[in-house]
Amino acid sequence: GGPVELDLSQVQPGQQVSVRWRDHPILVINRSDAALKTLQDPKLLAQLSDPQSSEFQQPEYAHNWHRSANPEYGVFVGICTHLGCIPLYYPSPNANHPASDWLGGYFCPCHGSKYDLAGRVFSGVPAPYNLPVPPYRFVSDSTIRIG
Ligand code: FES
Repeated sequence: GGPVELDLSQVQPGQQVSVRWRDHPILVINRSDAALKTLQDPKLLAQLSDPQSSEFQQPEYAHNWHRSANPEYGVFVGICTHLGCIPLYYPSPNANHPASDWLGGYFCPCHGSKYDLAGRVFSGVPAPYNLPVPPYRFVSDSTIRIG
């Protein structure tokens, strides 16, 4: 398939939408100011096992603390880097999540890998790398084109 466009005005703060691109689930989240703050929390940063995304292909514009073109929106390939399950979105701190210090992010139901709201993997789980960031760009203030 070719590029896929997504209207971000339908994604409210804290929400996620999923679209398919080249048979991959692409997960797009709207991150609140509070969520963005957690991504810079030194306690969280100390728990990441692939902080620089050095081993994984990610576009140049995602080489930053929010791993995205615009801090407000996270765009990830929703394929766990362990064995390929689709991670589940647990948006808010402690939202029905077993980890008491959960700040929001993704949890893989297959073997328990955990990622933050920038798709960065935590240490101590089977997944070795961060969730990939697909190629995408803004084609208007509120529309992205993936691919
Ligand atoms: Fe996600 Fe194994 S496939 S933890």
